[in-house]
Amino acid sequence: MMTRIAVLISGGGSNLQSLIDTVHNSYGRIELVISNRRDAYGLVRAKNHEIKNICIPGTDPNYDRLLLNKLEEAGIDLIVLAGYLKIVSPQLIEKYRNRIINIHPSLIPAFSGDGHYGLKVHKEVIEYGAKVSGATVHFVDEGTDTGPVVMQKCVEVESDDTPESLQNKVLKIEHELLPLAVKEYCLGNIQVEGRKVNIKKRGGNE
Ligand code: GAR
Repeated sequence: MMTRIAVLISGGGSNLQSLIDTVHNSYGRIELVISNRRDAYGLVRAKNHEIKNICIPGTDPNYDRLLLNKLEEAGIDLIVLAGYLKIVSPQLIEKYRNRIINIHPSLIPAFSGDGHYGLKVHKEVIEYGAKVSGATVHFVDEGTDTGPVVMQKCVEVESDDTPESLQNKVLKIEHELLPLAVKEYCLGNIQVEGRKVNIKKRGGNE
């Protein structure tokens, strides 16, 4: 049976699109796209592919309960945070331990944690003078960007990079890394032991 996936978004949803294009209906099924913002373009992307899409306004006092209800109703196995800029409740993390994946646009633990999101991250990388940046896929735990790392990939920061050009370079990598991590999850190839994530190598007679 296919892994039942929910994708949580807050914005444009280019990472959601990469999952729709490469994972949806092959390795897993995106049952639900949920946004905490009504104007998130990712909702339109979901609609275009006939994927159930809903907005729970982030300001709703019952937000966390409503979110949990929707995920439970849909029998979700894996939650993917794809540009989701809201803090995840401890109840949700507990219920879906090592079943929530986030993509972050830097090499964690650099340029991560509270307040590090979107273009801000790339601006900080450039201001710091770092020579490499990249993307990280990790499981979500109670901290901000502190859970076990699943995959990382680097890009070089060039002297003429702007926050926007670096963002584009990193996004390209995100669009490879996130679908790959979700695919491995769906294939049952990911094992978590404490902070260490092992991804089973394929090949041979497996
Ligand atoms: C992506 O770069 C993602 O890594 C980042 O927001 C962007 C969303 O783009 N997430 C964070 O900064 C989380 N801390 P998208 O809506 O086009 O997928």
